[in-house]
Amino acid sequence: MQMPEQAAVPAPPSRKLAILVSGRGSNMEAIARAIQSQRWPVTVVAVIAHREAIPAVACARALGLPVRIVPLNKALDRAQQDAELDRCLDEVAPDWIVLAGYMRILSAGFVARHEGRMVNIHPSLLPAFAGLDTHRRALAAGVRVHGATVHLVTADLDAGPIIAQAVVPVHPDDDEATLAQRVLQAEHRLYPLALRALIEGQIALDGCRARWRDPAPDAGGADPLLLLPEPA
Ligand code: GAR
Repeated sequence: MQMPEQAAVPAPPSRKLAILVSGRGSNMEAIARAIQSQRWPVTVVAVIAHREAIPAVACARALGLPVRIVPLNKALDRAQQDAELDRCLDEVAPDWIVLAGYMRILSAGFVARHEGRMVNIHPSLLPAFAGLDTHRRALAAGVRVHGATVHLVTADLDAGPIIAQAVVPVHPDDDEATLAQRVLQAEHRLYPLALRALIEGQIALDGCRARWRDPAPDAGGADPLLLLPEPA
């Protein structure tokens, strides 16, 4: 008996990611686990750090991800240091560069070379609280909501096009640690969602405004409130 022919479903093209880390690595881990459990057509070609002795590197190794250490040479200026980073990136040729708790400011030349395919997560609702100490400054300002932003990286610090945001409440008894923990948990849901949408080509940019090409997916409830782009 002849079997009915299966319609050939073309596999989506695989994408290569390089993840840059500086510290704890919990966003890297959330992304790596989402890639694995949701079977994204994606390969992490490198987790890049400047030092071996950081938790993110231990975590990457435990997850079986390829690690590359690019030591920071203090004798070089920022552009020269970034040229070293570029040499490492050239070897692994990523489609996307994912900053996950990467705390160095990148040179304008490096950003220009990778603009449009470099993404970052920042622990505030940008444009509020760009820069450091976001949770302390949010508490001092008395804001009632706080959160995290996934954005494309441009030459201006924490100012590129916003892809998605997660909003969390600020409670009256919050201190920096409790607020940071609430935001971080939201980041772990937000970053994989936003990154996957970018990689799969779901996001169109209209100037600085991100739009979802197809009906936006259910972001999964209101705690935290995940704000993905609206349909065009
Ligand atoms: C995260 O909260 C991330 O948003 C922030 O650093 C933390 C890294 O945690 N990034 C920045 O402040 C970038 N300016 P992780 O190493 O556990 O992912």
